[in-house]
Amino acid sequence: MQDKLKDLQSRIDQALEGGGKARIDKHHKQGKLTARERITLFLDRGTFEEIGMLVLHRTTDFEMETIPGDGVVTGYGTVNGRLVYVFAQDFTVFGGSLSETHAEKICKIMDLAMQNGAPVIGLNDSGGARIQEGVRSLGGYADIFYRNVRASGVIPQISAIMGPCAGGAVYSPAITDFIMMVEQTSYMFVTGPSVVKTVTNETVTAEELGGASTHAVKSGVTHLTAANDLDCILKLRQLLSYLPQNNEEKPPALPFEYSEEWRQELNDIVPENRQHPYDMRDVVHGIVDTDTFFEIQPDFAENIIIGFARIGGKVIGIVGNQPMVLAGVLDVNSSRKSARFVRFCDCFNIPLLVLVDVPGFLPGTDQEWNGIITNGAKLLYAFSEATVPRITLITRKAYGGAYDVMNSKHIGADLNYAWPTAEIAVMGARGASEIIFRKEIKEADDPEAKLTEKEQEYSEKFAHPYRAAARGFIDEVIQPSETRRKLIAGFNMLENKVDTLPRKKHGNVPL
Ligand code: HXC
Repeated sequence: MQDKLKDLQSRIDQALEGGGKARIDKHHKQGKLTARERITLFLDRGTFEEIGMLVLHRTTDFEMETIPGDGVVTGYGTVNGRLVYVFAQDFTVFGGSLSETHAEKICKIMDLAMQNGAPVIGLNDSGGARIQEGVRSLGGYADIFYRNVRASGVIPQISAIMGPCAGGAVYSPAITDFIMMVEQTSYMFVTGPSVVKTVTNETVTAEELGGASTHAVKSGVTHLTAANDLDCILKLRQLLSYLPQNNEEKPPALPFEYSEEWRQELNDIVPENRQHPYDMRDVVHGIVDTDTFFEIQPDFAENIIIGFARIGGKVIGIVGNQPMVLAGVLDVNSSRKSARFVRFCDCFNIPLLVLVDVPGFLPGTDQEWNGIITNGAKLLYAFSEATVPRITLITRKAYGGAYDVMNSKHIGADLNYAWPTAEIAVMGARGASEIIFRKEIKEADDPEAKLTEKEQEYSEKFAHPYRAAARGFIDEVIQPSETRRKLIAGFNMLENKVDTLPRKKHGNVPL
């Protein structure tokens, strides 16, 4: 790590040489790197090839000076030896604001990225549309949005927000696959604090309104946050290591030698008391290759976890209910979060592992009025539509509609495993007994004792995976310790899966 930091520092120094140090100082004082420093650090050493360094804006009003490059550095290079296209907005030039020519430069590398099938990474740091250019800059944004949409599902698109991002400018990042925000120095909002004050009379700071933690925890707009620019760049590189170059490729696999793949520690994760929580991340870490879990949106809708990992050297996407938070229930936000992730994995040939411990959908007016029906349907739709290899493991509860939704056999999962602790039923034993034995319980001398007796009876009948296994809805009941071995074999077996959807223009996902 020390060596890496030293190397990065020497590259920063090199990037600074002759770079107009005075102008950059203000930028550095805010804790930010400049556009060129960011690109230098982001790409493999010496691989950056710049395109459009001499481009000048065409504005003749306001006696604006012209600065070569016009506030954005664009080009290509490699990350971990693989081609990527990159643009970095330069806040030291007209506040990184987007002019017609600035937009043309970004569009040019987006077109090249599409043509050559490689990811586009945007390092955003901009005051928005260049005010002096009026509609030409608005048109420039729209040209970018249009390309973002055309490229969606074809090449990975990643947005790092490393400074201001306001107004309609937020919509390009929003269309890209992943957003990463730098803490304290970046923000995103459609209208800033002063407009908010005028319209709604709310007093709010830029950080509260649209800072990294707001979007990581409250809105879910950002997928990742970084402590500073360097952390952001390292995380971008890490994220890319899980992604294929385009939708025609598989994600890059690492060499793997099969050895002893039993994991005894998995046997002790699910507590004996089924009401007690446990951390689904422990299950993930017990299953995947050591230190390969890269969690996405870790602070938003924490009742579900999503992220990339490797198993047997191959990249997979993981979706898992989190019993530690709200008992792992599905709600509006967890459904939205996981549905988008499933669709990303499906676009880019990343197999899915789904870990299930879910008591159902969250009841209540808040959920119903905020559209749990439509939002829950998103996840159902996303899984049903996915044609990548899909494996499910039920660790404990799989109740009600949530059983169906969480990648059940019925909606196209390829392999469905359950641990012996799995409970697959319409609902939990207590709730079920209260409904179906209501009369008997009411008429009993001791209703509470009767309820407990009925609960026990129901549990023996349903709170296990064997009825589902008898129907073939579960392929095998496996010991936790053999899970990793089973999953490696399963994903290997599914490696060449071919599944096609009926011919259509596109489906109508319940947005
Ligand atoms: C032209 C701009 C600019 C802009 C900043 N600058 N934003 N120039 N167009 N949009 C210039 C400033 O004039 C200044 O130039 C330099 O960049 C640095 O800006 P400062 O204000 O000194 O920096 P700071 O104090 O850090 O404040 C940053 C800021 C502020 C919060 C971003 O500059 C700001 O509020 N800018 C305007 C933001 C905005 O309203 N954009 C339009 C959003 S609507 P000098 O020469 O003095 O150094 C939009 C529509 C998109 O983007 C539509 C898409 C559909």
